[in-house]
Amino acid sequence: MKGRFITLEGGEGAGKSTCLEFIASYFSRRQLPLLVTREPGGTPLAEEIRHLLLQKRNEQVAPDTELLLVFAARAQHLEHTILPALRRGEWVLSDRFTDATYAYQGGGRGLSMQRISELERMVQGTLRPDLTLLLDLPVEQGLARADARAERDRFESEQHAFFERVRAAYRERSLAEPERFRVIDASRTLPEVVQGVQTVLDEWLEQGL
Ligand code: TMP
Repeated sequence: MKGRFITLEGGEGAGKSTCLEFIASYFSRRQLPLLVTREPGGTPLAEEIRHLLLQKRNEQVAPDTELLLVFAARAQHLEHTILPALRRGEWVLSDRFTDATYAYQGGGRGLSMQRISELERMVQGTLRPDLTLLLDLPVEQGLARADARAERDRFESEQHAFFERVRAAYRERSLAEPERFRVIDASRTLPEVVQGVQTVLDEWLEQGL
């Protein structure tokens, strides 16, 4: 069986970590080899770039610097982690991928979607996820959940309006590519969200196998 590429996306406090754990156990129960990775990150160098991106600093980060760092990390991640696994026939689950760039740098920071798509083509060629799960919930609710956690990183310190733009950009992308996206209502309880993920995977695997 050929490996497939699945990505998990969503705003802050959407329950991404719980869903990732669930998906990993879902694949392991079916004895499908699954590599779980994340962005920014997924290789030692890309994890260093992640640290550069998330760390709060006194110097303002120019939006283009942020965009290029995200794609620099992605190039490394693709070359050394994602593509080798797919070539070995494994499945890959990435906690965020390029839809996050459209949402955060495009929607959040207001960078041109056209330029993002040019970088996407340069770094990824024609590679796109086979399936993208989007955990969607009202910004207010997500931030309230995220607030209960540890200290905020550079992105988490953004204002409410930034996250509204992130959410709107994610939703717009899901509408533009309905075959690839499955939107899961993450405003429900965590067990219900996990159930939603399971239903999507059951249906998707049934179609694809
Ligand atoms: P995480 O909190 O889900 O681990 O993601 C780290 C942060 O990085 C999150 O706030 C979103 C941000 N991010 C971008 O801004 N652009 C991207 O392309 C990716 C992958 C993440």
